[in-house]
Amino acid sequence: MIESKIKSTVRDVNDFPKAGIVFKDITPILKDPQLCMEITKALAEQLKDVGIDVVAGIESRGFLFGPTLAQLLNVPFVPIRKAGKLPYKTVKQSYDLEYGTATIELHEDALIAGQKVLIHDDLLATGGTVVAASKLVMQLGAEVAGYSFIIALDFLNGRVRLAPYNTQIFSLASY
Ligand code: PRP
Ligand code: HPA
Repeated sequence: MIESKIKSTVRDVNDFPKAGIVFKDITPILKDPQLCMEITKALAEQLKDVGIDVVAGIESRGFLFGPTLAQLLNVPFVPIRKAGKLPYKTVKQSYDLEYGTATIELHEDALIAGQKVLIHDDLLATGGTVVAASKLVMQLGAEVAGYSFIIALDFLNGRVRLAPYNTQIFSLASY
């Protein structure tokens, strides 16, 4: 089963990036091409009836599986990046992280009003990042059709924070 394969491959790193955080390190997954393929296919399978026009992936770990997921779904991929990285005109949102604060941006012509957008990232923790990403999508008049993660840290209550967005949350492994 995919969840047990993910859990047996992900590595826990204590006290990274700050004391008290047990960091889920997904880099061992990337060393296993078979598992990477299985994960991408399983993400796509969960989404097959959702009706998605675009996958928006969040820098940086949302770029690892996001483009391949978009290719499997046969839709465009758009990057949501950390502040100061996107070259064209952008919309911006700041947010709090489990271990700090950050700002993300999206090109203002990345989405067309009314498009149904899947927000993809490797991991859901407090939900601050995807809430900010949702605001970017909505600023451009597009709609959040769903959220897709490889891992959800349910003990950090990200799903509760996403509840007001009233859309589907998919993940492959929960803690
Ligand atoms: C991590 C992770 C998610 C986010 C989850 O990214 O990849 O994007 O934090 O946390 P949240 O649900 O509490 O918002 P990080 O900001 O560490 O950046 P990185 O992907 O560049 O390592
Ligand atoms: N692991 C990996 N990424 C994260 C975590 C974590 O525990 N928390 C927020 N982003």
